Amino acid sequence: MNNTTDNQLTNIDNLSELPQEILNHDALLKNAGKLLDTMLDFKELMLGYSCAIKEIRTKLEILDKEFEVINQRNPISSIHTRLKSQTSIMEKMARKGLDYTRENIENNLNDIAGLRVICSYVDDIYRIADALTNQDDIELIARKDYIENPKPNGYRSLHLIVSIPIFFAEHTKKVRAEVQIRTIAMDFWASLEHEIKYKKHITNTEEIAERLKKCSEVIAYTDNMMQSIRAEIDNTAGEQTEEEIIFEKLKRYDKSLGE
Ligand code: GTP
Ligand code: MG
Repeated sequence: MNNTTDNQLTNIDNLSELPQEILNHDALLKNAGKLLDTMLDFKELMLGYSCAIKEIRTKLEILDKEFEVINQRNPISSIHTRLKSQTSIMEKMARKGLDYTRENIENNLNDIAGLRVICSYVDDIYRIADALTNQDDIELIARKDYIENPKPNGYRSLHLIVSIPIFFAEHTKKVRAEVQIRTIAMDFWASLEHEIKYKKHITNTEEIAERLKKCSEVIAYTDNMMQSIRAEIDNTAGEQTEEEIIFEKLKRYDKSLGE
């Protein structure tokens, strides 16, 4: 507020005598205050989810590193994360017919914090999932195994809904996150299938769905083959000479741990 406006306010006793533009300004400020409160509340809510992503990502990276030090290969090929946008949150709440309140969001949406873990082999998926969910601070809320039971369209992945405590300065908050774990091949398939869903101009959708289904079967077969070849290679490692074993151990020891 500038000085002129300040003077005007002090000189007028009856509020209704205030010029309209100042009344509007006042109302605007009041509404802006409320709006900012809501926005800050939302920011605080999202902070929890963003921290959950960080915490779980670190846990996954530690599991990957430990496996690398022990077995000289990385079970995790890559990790992708995303925080659901406000627009998507609003859309999903509307779709579920729920009021847009903080409590409703926290109790009904499990995928505001999302992590996608891409593994090389199918057994790595279960290894990582078990190691993660066995940790003391992780609570498993739900587990959907679309590898054992693929969706009718051929979608395959292991989905976990977990809850993790976030330690803030003066309180601890339990936050939910969705962790999707799949192989490189399953991810390749899901990316294309997802893309097609949004291409409205496609007319031969049935034929494409059929071909995608076929691809998912080929992918499942390939994943299993790769897995058994991997196991065979691991089993023949026992036939190395003593010298080869010593050199391999030295190589493992020399490998940097990174940061
Ligand atoms: P929402 O879809 O998040 O409401 O939950 P839901 O209860 O249906 O969970 P579900 O575990 O089936 O799916 C959650 C997520 O998995 C989706 O948001 C997608 O990211 C992924 N997903 C599930 N089904 C498919 C599918 O058929 N194709 C692709 N590309 N992704 C899928
Ligand atoms: Mg989702």
